[in-house]
Amino acid sequence: MAIFILYLTSPVTALQGAPRPRSLLVEKRASGKALTNVYQALGQVLIIVIRYHRCYTHCPMDAASQNQTPDTQLFRDVFNASPIGIAVENLEGQPLFVNPAFCSMLGFGEEELRGKHCVDFSPPEDAEKDWALFQKLRAGEIDQYQLEKRYFRRDGSLVWGSLSISLLNSRPSPLVIAMVEDITDKKKAEEARFRHAAVIESSDDAIATGTLDGIIVSWNTGAQKIYGYTEAEAVGKPISMLVPPELADEENKILETLRAGSRIEHFETVRVTKTGKRINVSLTISPIKDSSGRTVGCSGVARDITERKLADAALANVSRKLIEAQEQERTRIGRELHDDIGQRLALLALQLQQLHDDTFILPEVRSRMREFQKQISEIATDIQSLSHELQSAKLQYLGIAGAMRSFCQEFGKQQKVEIDFKAHDLPSPLSPDISLCLFRVLQEALHNAAKHSGVRQFEVRLWGTSDEIHLTVKDSGAGFDREAAKESRGLGLISMDERLKLVKGTLSINSQPKRGTTVDARVPLNSGSDSMRAAG
Ligand SMILES: Nc1ncnc2c1ncn2[C@@H]1O[C@H](COP(=O)(O)OP(=O)(O)OP(=O)(O)O)[C@@H](O)[C@H]1O
Ligand SMILES: [Mg+2]
Repeated sequence: MAIFILYLTSPVTALQGAPRPRSLLVEKRASGKALTNVYQALGQVLIIVIRYHRCYTHCPMDAASQNQTPDTQLFRDVFNASPIGIAVENLEGQPLFVNPAFCSMLGFGEEELRGKHCVDFSPPEDAEKDWALFQKLRAGEIDQYQLEKRYFRRDGSLVWGSLSISLLNSRPSPLVIAMVEDITDKKKAEEARFRHAAVIESSDDAIATGTLDGIIVSWNTGAQKIYGYTEAEAVGKPISMLVPPELADEENKILETLRAGSRIEHFETVRVTKTGKRINVSLTISPIKDSSGRTVGCSGVARDITERKLADAALANVSRKLIEAQEQERTRIGRELHDDIGQRLALLALQLQQLHDDTFILPEVRSRMREFQKQISEIATDIQSLSHELQSAKLQYLGIAGAMRSFCQEFGKQQKVEIDFKAHDLPSPLSPDISLCLFRVLQEALHNAAKHSGVRQFEVRLWGTSDEIHLTVKDSGAGFDREAAKESRGLGLISMDERLKLVKGTLSINSQPKRGTTVDARVPLNSGSDSMRAAG
């Protein structure tokens, strides 16, 4: 291209002297003024080439080259050096001259191309369009046209060309000059852009881009559906218009993260729509970088998760109610066992004792009665500890550490296991919900350890940090595979998990076959509370 421009800007006398035929005025196309200028100039060059050409009809360029003036040599060089494919055709559509760029674009030799008709260059549907316009050119209805069409290469593959045809009213008979620019890469990029645009437009998610100052640059249909603002209303506005006032800080942090070149994934937050409605969204925001890796903007995808959040809340509500009902039922059964069955057993033991003390009882019967008394007392003890386990009354008067310590002692005695319990740095007061949740987690974890671990020594730790309370229950026994345990019919692990979710806590279980198990429950404390720290 540089060589070409050099020629055009040279004060070539022949070029200056040549009249500029109207038919060569190539219409300015949206694809670029520069290219149009090139076409116009090439047209001028060619008409001069042909004018100086002695035998342009059915005569290859080389054959004419013997009889050349410096000007014809110059224009021949331009023709040959042009990066744009050029063909000069007669009005029958038969190529007379083709330049090297045209040959290399299609992979054919000059001779081969001259042997083809112009409609043979393209698939039928493209050739038909071209031929229809060519007919108009022949009929004098038009004197030039442009068309984007596909061309066959020698290997059968297709290339896209931007074709510009002009009528050349030269003597002795009119000719047609066809200039073809290879636009295959541009077309591919365009198709890829269309595909991306189609994906973006058809997405139900809100997809937008913005500057690093938080100004919206693009806005898809999904964004309009979710937030209610049209593209025209959103573009150019600050993204902060979607952020609830109390979350302004959050938006600043997001922008800071992006400026530092980092990405934010599946961040769940709240946004405000045009009508002022608050919606829950999951945001993924990525920095947009330029070719040098510098962050120049950001793109964000937001998914409306309001319905999912509502469903989660409904489910959590059901879980809460089920757990509450379970607690009430536990308390009722615990109380029944303690106040009724326990009392009746105590009465039975007393009556047996009285009978045992009676002088008329035979010695062998008395010895059986002592045995019965012992069994009754054992049943009463079991019922009492079951009643304690079912009820959470101790939590209220002993506090979480006291209630857990007491439970560990009773459980250890009953199950004949050793439990090392330690508590420290506990916040006080601790909400009853959290206390009860952790107490139930301890009970289930210890039951599991006693039932499944195969060892008899366990370690329980309860402690607080500035923002959380932790409970760990550890054994060094059989361990288990969590995925396999999901197949089990047990409810203990699920119940621990559900209970913790209700207090926004998390359950993590570290267990491997033969390496023991550690159950770790964490519950966040209310950050606003001015709780005192107390030793457990
Ligand atoms: N400490 C542990 N050591 C070894 N295996 C364990 C331990 N805790 C749990 N498991 C395994 O995980 C499975 C699921 O435990 P989960 O508490 O849910 O059910 P379960 O104890 O079998 O029955 P449920 O608790 O309903 O009475 C158990 O069956 C057991 O295989
Ligand atoms: Mg269990």
